[in-house]
Amino acid sequence: MADVIVDLLAPEDLREVVELYNQIFRPARDEEHFARRYLGRYNVVQMVARIQERPVGFLLAFELKPRTMFLWFLGVLASHRRQGVASQLLDALHSWARQNDYDAIRFECFNQHRSMLHLALEAEYDIVGLRYDPDHGDNLILLQKNLMP
Ligand SMILES: CC(C)(COP(=O)(O)OP(=O)(O)OC[C@H]1O[C@@H](n2cnc3c(N)ncnc32)[C@H](O)[C@@H]1OP(=O)(O)O)[C@@H](O)C(=O)NCCC(=O)NCCS
Repeated sequence: MADVIVDLLAPEDLREVVELYNQIFRPARDEEHFARRYLGRYNVVQMVARIQERPVGFLLAFELKPRTMFLWFLGVLASHRRQGVASQLLDALHSWARQNDYDAIRFECFNQHRSMLHLALEAEYDIVGLRYDPDHGDNLILLQKNLMP
């Protein structure tokens, strides 16, 4: 497992997050896109994973409803996958959520994001539902991890 340091960034601290996002996801987005999405959101969490100070992965989350956080994005540079970077980002989010009185983390994932599904099951997320996403014309799998013992 890679020796990773996870930093918690302020919501307005978007430069590194956007750089990582655009190396991992398409279409490219600018800082304005994320700032707009965060408007009115409570407890925006931005975490960046570093190996020897180089940013190699990130996650974005915010409150879905009281006691439940929503994991919006999780990504790791292709060159640094299968080294435990995403697992360590998730561990950091789970710790942060427990410390801030959340009971659960939820996220949504398309079938084709197989690596994310594998990771989620490995991290003890449960499949809790399915919803049709009219924006993409495809089903999203709903996953949730309960943080309480
Ligand atoms: C999903 C993603 C974040 C995983 O990141 P990662 O740092 O490679 O994940 P980890 O190394 O922490 O993986 C932990 C475990 O998850 C499972 N896993 C992760 N990727 C897997 C894959 N491609 N195939 C099978 N199992 C996988 C394995 O059990 C793995 O443990 P192991 O390597 O000891 O077998 C990364 O593949 C990614 O960025 N993908 C593109 C973006 C994406 O699809 N994001 C999800 C939509 S928001």
